[in-house]
Amino acid sequence: MLVLGIETTCDETAASVVRRDADGKGTILSNVVLSQAAQHAAYGGVVPEIAARAHVEILDHVIAAAMVEAGLSFRWIDGVAAAAGPGLIGGVIVGLTTAKAIAMVAEKPLIAVNHLEAHALTPRLTHGTPFPYCLFLASGGHTQIIAVRGVGDYVRLGTTIDDAIGEAYDKTAKLLGLPYPGGPDVERRAERGRAARFSLPRPMLGRAEPDFSLSGLKTALRLEAERIAPLSETDVCDLCAAFQAAVVDIVVDRVKTGLARFAERFGRPTALVAAGGVASNKAVRAGLQHVADAAGVPMIAPPPALCTDNGAIIAWAGAERLALGLTDDLEVSPRARWPLEQLSPPPAPGGP
Ligand code: KG4
Ligand code: ZN
Repeated sequence: MLVLGIETTCDETAASVVRRDADGKGTILSNVVLSQAAQHAAYGGVVPEIAARAHVEILDHVIAAAMVEAGLSFRWIDGVAAAAGPGLIGGVIVGLTTAKAIAMVAEKPLIAVNHLEAHALTPRLTHGTPFPYCLFLASGGHTQIIAVRGVGDYVRLGTTIDDAIGEAYDKTAKLLGLPYPGGPDVERRAERGRAARFSLPRPMLGRAEPDFSLSGLKTALRLEAERIAPLSETDVCDLCAAFQAAVVDIVVDRVKTGLARFAERFGRPTALVAAGGVASNKAVRAGLQHVADAAGVPMIAPPPALCTDNGAIIAWAGAERLALGLTDDLEVSPRARWPLEQLSPPPAPGGP
């Protein structure tokens, strides 16, 4: 089964063709990602209107490149998948409308993919991970701990009550004069800094529910930065190190609690899975490995290029849905908000 996947929910314009074999094995035939980061850099964050226009200008070229790289024409694919939300609505409209046009002209089924589901199912593409597993999803827009029980079958165990972790990285970077997106730059400087120089808070530690809060940490960091301004390169590295050490402590504690809640409700997970842009952070990964080892479950993290947004994860989620006969009609609407719990699992074979 060959599926074309289109991703336009944020600031990456991306398309990919993925093959899913009958035994569930996935192969990426092409994966073209065009980042708009440079166009947003001056603003310190993604500007929705700029993003939507950039998607319109480039998406057809990106799709063409993905088809050429896969050596296929639309005639040979079995379905067209697009991220139909959640995300910046202008971009989502561009991607979904384009997918509808291709589906209509090529007479192929359309699969409207939830972007979060795409992150959630990625370990099945990269590692063949069986259900159920515990997912820690941390990106620029989301920080969630989710029980992944099957395609379309998700239970959210915890979430952030304010900022997402990636957002906290981005705001920290902006505050310290580092470019957008902030994660990779903050991580690089943290490796050279001295975390112990500042004492930053770790909100929510020890709470019974595996929720997150980042805004207090962000404020504390800002106050420390203001206290010692003007900042030298050493100051910036030390602040990055202190911030990242706090983030890792928070992640370790909250995910440990999440795994415990998972076990109480659903039994032993097959794995702890990390996804989303923040999961490409080496310190965060090391912390998660620790938590997984202590719980006696494997830690699985897709390679960094599949943790950040791309078309292959959309194509794969589309393929998993198509294999279960789950397709969408051309009337399906793009959605800015679309919580994972609103998806429904496929009906059981022989059921109603
Ligand atoms: O999953 P993603 O590409 O897009 C969203 O759906 O948001 O995640 C992007 C986010 C950004 O906030 C970025 O700063 C963060 O992931 N990120 C990182 C790292 N690489 C990307 N955060 C921490 N460390 C990194 N190495
Ligand atoms: Zn994402």
